Parts: sequence; structure tokens; C-alpha cells
Amino acid sequence: MALSTVDAEGVPDSRMLILKEVDAQGWAFASTASSRKGQQLRDCPAAALTLWWQPVMRSVRVRGRVVEAEREESVADLQARSPAAQALVSADDWTLWRVVPDRVEFWQGSPDRAHTRVIYTPEGSSWRAEVAEE
Ligand SMILES: Cc1cc2nc3c(=O)[nH]c(=O)nc-3n(C[C@H](O)[C@H](O)[C@H](O)COP(=O)(O)O)c2cc1C
Repeated sequence: MALSTVDAEGVPDSRMLILKEVDAQGWAFASTASSRKGQQLRDCPAAALTLWWQPVMRSVRVRGRVVEAEREESVADLQARSPAAQALVSADDWTLWRVVPDRVEFWQGSPDRAHTRVIYTPEGSSWRAEVAEE
């Protein structure tokens, strides 16, 4: 997926990352806190995610605030990586974050261009779905 962040001046940045998990807590990704994205998330703890499956013409967009996971979760994520991957980073630098979504869009493309977008926004303890045809 593409993870998009902004720096302290509001200038956007984007890069590919592995989506680690999606659950009620949010959409998880991991990297080093010392990276550019780590600095950007300290300056502005919000992000957008973009995923695209070309064969089925589906895209997902997520945006929301970003929260750092508990230290034990970051350690567990690092330990799940290969020894070679673990050797490249210092354990206290490896960090798991979650995007806590305030908007999720599912986009289904159609060969006849009658594309469909379903946009979810929080409503109380649930989600409101709005269907938009393009
Ligand atoms: C398919 C793909 C998956 C990647 N997954 C990760 C990842 O899960 N974590 C990570 O730190 N970098 C990952 N990278 C490398 C990042 O795209 C990026 O180059 C790196 O994290 C440095 O980004 P930054 O300088 O904006 O912090 C991946 C790259 C590709 C192409």
C-alpha cells in the first residue's frame, strides 16, 4: 500500500509499505522511528493509505490519525521478520503504528466506466455507508 504523510511544512510524501493488519484498532504498518516517515508522523500524526488491485479493479483509501502501538507489539512485529531483516534495524527503532480511520473508501471499477464508490464515515459506535456512482 502507499502510505502518505506530510512534513512539518505540510509538504506531502508517499511510499510503499506492507499492510500488517486490519482490525478494530486500525490499519497497522511498521517501520523505523528514525526514518523520514517516522519524523513526519511525529510532526503530524495523520496519514492516508492507498491500495490498488489492478486485476479486479478495486481500490481502498483510508485516512485518519496515526497512533503508535504498545512497545511489545512493535517488538513482536520485529521478531516476526526474517533474521536478515531483523539484522538491518535496531530493536528500539522498529515501530508499529496504526491509522485510526475517519474515512474509508472502497472503489470498484467497471469496464463500462460505471464505477462504484462506497464511502464509510464513523457514526456513533458504527459506520455510515454512502454509495456513489461515478
Ligand atoms: C512493496 C514494498 C513494500 C515495502 N514495505 C515496507 C515496510 O513495510 N516498512 C518499511 O519501513 N519500508 C517498506 N518499504 C520501503 C519504503 O517504501 C521506503 O523506501 C522506506 O520505508 C523509507 O521511507 P521514508 O524515507 O519515507 O521513511 C517497502 C517498499 C516496497 C516497494
